[in-house]
Amino acid sequence: MNVLSVVGARPQFVKLKPVSTALRARGLAETVVHTGQHYDYEMSAAFFEELELPAPDVHLGTPPGPTSAQCGFMIARLGEVIADARPDVVLVFGDTTSTLAGAVAGRYAGVRVAHVEAGMRSFVRTMPEEINRVATDRLSDVLFTASADADRHLAREGRPDAVNVGDVMLDVVRLVGPRTADPPALLREYGLAPGGYALATIHRAANTDDPARLAALLALLGGLGLPVVLPLHPRTRKAAEAAGLDALLAAPALHVTPPLPYVATIALARHARRVFTDSGGLQKEAFYVGTPCTTLRDETEWVETVALGWNVLAGADAAVARASLALPPPPPVDNPYGDGHAALKIAAHLAG
Ligand code: UD1
Repeated sequence: MNVLSVVGARPQFVKLKPVSTALRARGLAETVVHTGQHYDYEMSAAFFEELELPAPDVHLGTPPGPTSAQCGFMIARLGEVIADARPDVVLVFGDTTSTLAGAVAGRYAGVRVAHVEAGMRSFVRTMPEEINRVATDRLSDVLFTASADADRHLAREGRPDAVNVGDVMLDVVRLVGPRTADPPALLREYGLAPGGYALATIHRAANTDDPARLAALLALLGGLGLPVVLPLHPRTRKAAEAAGLDALLAAPALHVTPPLPYVATIALARHARRVFTDSGGLQKEAFYVGTPCTTLRDETEWVETVALGWNVLAGADAAVARASLALPPPPPVDNPYGDGHAALKIAAHLAG
């Protein structure tokens, strides 16, 4: 059994970690293809180093550009790589341009496609990630899901055959858990104490590409009444600079950093009073390390976190965001996203 794993964006490097480890432990051959969608050191190589990931066997070097151009480039190059490597299955992760390109190229080559984190839906059809999810699930032969909600979505779409393995990101949080027990050094540099700050991230197209919305979000974070550590995604930095929002980024409460390594991010989430984010991954990671979250979107795919009281949907509403800081601690709950052994189940299923 030969697996060709396609990754390209930061969250996929994290998801690859436990899956790659489990595939190899089971004796399956794996070819790792990096599309090059994310290319800055902090967004890519830093994750391969810190998580001790296998170096990619193939790097496609996808040039930056519009989504459709990037997707087309990836499909063309992946077609060649698949013809060469002749895998039994193409494995894709999450909901990025690289995910969809991997699924399309696999199907065109007549190779089985397996999708990790299948069935997530925001039902916002304009969102690039939603387009990628729906199309990838439609093309995939094997659907690995992380939640019962995902299973329900897929069943409604005529796919009752999903394999619920739980969330591979829980595997990774468990793996690095001991390394996040101490507050990260960064906090001392900023003079911040555990519980005395919030961690925030913004990068979704819907939040960055409209200057008024981005300005509202940065003002919201700067006005929470609590220091905020804000690692800035390259997309957000470019959008803020283009929209002339430097003054908002310079707000006294904001500690703006470059994108941070994985363990530091999880440690910052763990020791924060609250997380404010539009990232799907960070919503879950906050939940896994026991920190409540406020989501800077109008909807979430991880609906269980909201239902269980661990996540508040604030959109760009500053009053809702501020009020969420005053909420009592959420109750302890059973984890609806599995037991932290998702990757072992994926490897076992693929091994047949
Ligand atoms: C992508 C995913 C998103 C995921 C996010 C995680 C898609 C459609 N979206 O969004 O689902 O949550 O990754 O980070 O795939 N850039 C750099 N350096 C980098 C990476 C990106 O400068 O290392 C720039 C790109 O050139 C582009 C912008 O940031 O101008 C956005 O990058 P892109 O890969 O298109 O999507 P993300 O916003 O990162």
